[in-house]
Amino acid sequence: MHAFQYRRQALWCEEVPLSRIARTVGTPCYVYSERTLRRHFRAFDDAFGALSHITAFAVKANSNVAILRLFAQEGGGADVVSGGELYRALAAGIDPGRIVFAGVGKQAKEIHDALQARILMFNVESHQELELIDKVARHCGRQARVALRVNPDINPQTHPYISTGLKKSKFGVSIREALAFYRVASRLRHVEVVGLHSHIGSQITQLGPFLDAVKKILRLIEQLRAEWINIRYLDLGGGLGITYKSETPPHPRALAKALTPLLKPWLLAGGTLIFEPGRVIVGNAGLLLTEVLYVKSGHPHPFVVVDAGMNDLIRPSLYDAYHQILPVARRRVRAQTVDVVGPICESGDFLAKGRRLPQSRPGELLAVMSAGAYGFAMASNYNARPRAAEVLVQGGSFTVIRRRESYGDLIRGEFIPPSLKK
Ligand code: LLP
Repeated sequence: MHAFQYRRQALWCEEVPLSRIARTVGTPCYVYSERTLRRHFRAFDDAFGALSHITAFAVKANSNVAILRLFAQEGGGADVVSGGELYRALAAGIDPGRIVFAGVGKQAKEIHDALQARILMFNVESHQELELIDKVARHCGRQARVALRVNPDINPQTHPYISTGLKKSKFGVSIREALAFYRVASRLRHVEVVGLHSHIGSQITQLGPFLDAVKKILRLIEQLRAEWINIRYLDLGGGLGITYKSETPPHPRALAKALTPLLKPWLLAGGTLIFEPGRVIVGNAGLLLTEVLYVKSGHPHPFVVVDAGMNDLIRPSLYDAYHQILPVARRRVRAQTVDVVGPICESGDFLAKGRRLPQSRPGELLAVMSAGAYGFAMASNYNARPRAAEVLVQGGSFTVIRRRESYGDLIRGEFIPPSLKK
């Protein structure tokens, strides 16, 4: 359930008509519903309420500081994958003791900053990274808490670009090598082994892959215990899918219910679970508002040219992802099959292909739904397009939580060498 609904023939977000936002802020712009964000966060967090756990929001899905602040208020932590995401999470007021740091390419400076901030733990992806963490921790006079990322070789049955738990994936170490990896880690002086991390993929719509991964991991935790390596934090990553079209992903409660019997003994022994949900919390809490510029004939379908492009929302171009498109004002017109395309000079710049939509006309507003996750976060300035504004709706009012970039922003930080100034 989300707070984008038609009232009579107009699409609203909470108590605000989207047309009013477009008039005030312009298009393209991202619109998020605070009510939906909080409800989704709570639905996830409450599902695991009976179990000791941390809900560490995956900042990569949506890193706007206002949105992170909402989750901080809800008691959420953060899963970060760069110094920049750590900076954002801290700026938003997220408790560093609830921040985990993953990613295959952590740099010494990022490790240093995370140690200084006293984050909960690093999710370590390789031997060399582990050595670097030990070294940086020694320099800072600290102990670095670590979890090792284990790749359980499970097929999450999702898009190949967002499958991360297969053996061919670059993430973590394979479950076969994990024991040896843990032995090495447990001998390092400035590293404290506290956890195990596993994330198998994203937009997962079945329980099976999660359960298979957990079963494999629990066997490994047993083996580690036999060697006096105690796993206090089990970080199961993110990955729970959402409905973009007709998918029927399990509710977080169903995941909790299925996981509880498996994890009970380990939890009773004092373990804490960590989850890193991204999409399931923000995906359906945001949309991209865009205006139709032109309608032109084309083959096999007419083109509806809108003012949002692949630089604003790259998911359709990159993953062939489906996003529902709704007219902001419903009119009594015939439906038509069209390609909805952006202004970018690339044939791959489309938001929808072969889509049935009510006949469009210039000036009309369209809402690209389910764009709250990996929407703005993946936006770029390609074709020198200023990035879109972001708006947070709170009941009957709304606030710009990121202003539209200006042309000045586009060249900020660029310099013409003196020799070219003549
Ligand atoms: N934890 C780790 C270690 C991850 O790599 C990811 C996502 C998450 C958590 C959050 O996963 P979620 O709950 O959002 O599924 N850009 C793609 C998705 C890439 C996901 C990358 N990792 C898309 O637009 O579909």
